[in-house]
Amino acid sequence: MNRMERLKVLAEPLRLRVVALLNAQELCAAELQGILGMAQSTFAGHMAQLKRVGLVGVRRVGGQVVYSAATLDDAALAALITSEPLDEADRFALDRVVASRTGDAAETLDADFLPGRNWEGLAHLLLRLLPPLRIADLGVGSGELTRLLASSHPEARIIAIDLEPEVLRDLGSNVEPRCGDLAEPPLTPGEVDLALYSQSLHCVADPLLALKNLHAKLAPGARVAVLDLAPHTHAWVQGKLGHKHLGFSDLGGLLEQAGFHHVSCDVVHRDRRSPAFTTLLAVGTR
Ligand SMILES: C[S@@+](CC[C@H](N)C(=O)[O-])C[C@H]1O[C@@H](n2cnc3c(N)ncnc32)[C@H](O)[C@@H]1O
Repeated sequence: MNRMERLKVLAEPLRLRVVALLNAQELCAAELQGILGMAQSTFAGHMAQLKRVGLVGVRRVGGQVVYSAATLDDAALAALITSEPLDEADRFALDRVVASRTGDAAETLDADFLPGRNWEGLAHLLLRLLPPLRIADLGVGSGELTRLLASSHPEARIIAIDLEPEVLRDLGSNVEPRCGDLAEPPLTPGEVDLALYSQSLHCVADPLLALKNLHAKLAPGARVAVLDLAPHTHAWVQGKLGHKHLGFSDLGGLLEQAGFHHVSCDVVHRDRRSPAFTTLLAVGTR
């Protein structure tokens, strides 16, 4: 196979990731697809390209398709490929996949594991207890929180705000999607009782200005809640996830500077595994 053909296939960053992952570890199709987080049809297309030019090997073990890095006859290309480092997020995901393969599942459980207890269940429980509210969900992302709020709390009216129109689709019958910038949230004054930023304030260039602009749109007594990260050193989140700030050293102070009162700010979660992030929850009242 000619080198140019192979280089063309590797020009797609995702395929380069696949090769770097397989250089580190042989993986079955489901494991690899899980790490890449993509739909079957897209995954199959990329793998077909890599197989076509002989960059990955495939074998069947029982009912499973297992992929591995191919042994190349082109020494210069092989050296180039093996020097491609795994990025930190892929290394983390790969370590989890490998750890979950070994041994009896019961023996690998954390000491505080409780069957059936999970954050989704706890969130549904707490949301059911809320009174009817008008909520602004600022920064929708995958829509996990928006859908959780909408389904757990059918009497709530949720205004979901994001820059990206495609994340605003199919969020629930009690969700009103609004395309707009968190820097100047598209809300009319007094329209909501509660404004939420869940892992979105760090995406905004000037968080203080965004909070001040939100403050101006809230009626006295309305509340703001911000879930975000404590300061961290994972600079890869800037390129990979579009973060503009590596956490906040004084999230509560930021809310106070924006004009909010009765501010609290607490650590609500610390990841025990790498990449270890610490989650803060800050709450304030207009
Ligand atoms: C990490 S996601 C939010 C996750 C979500 N809140 C959750 O808890 O699952 C960040 C979202 O903020 C949006 N975003 C980033 N900067 C923005 C801005 N300036 N204005 C509006 N949306 C923005 C992105 O499009 C993305 O959908």
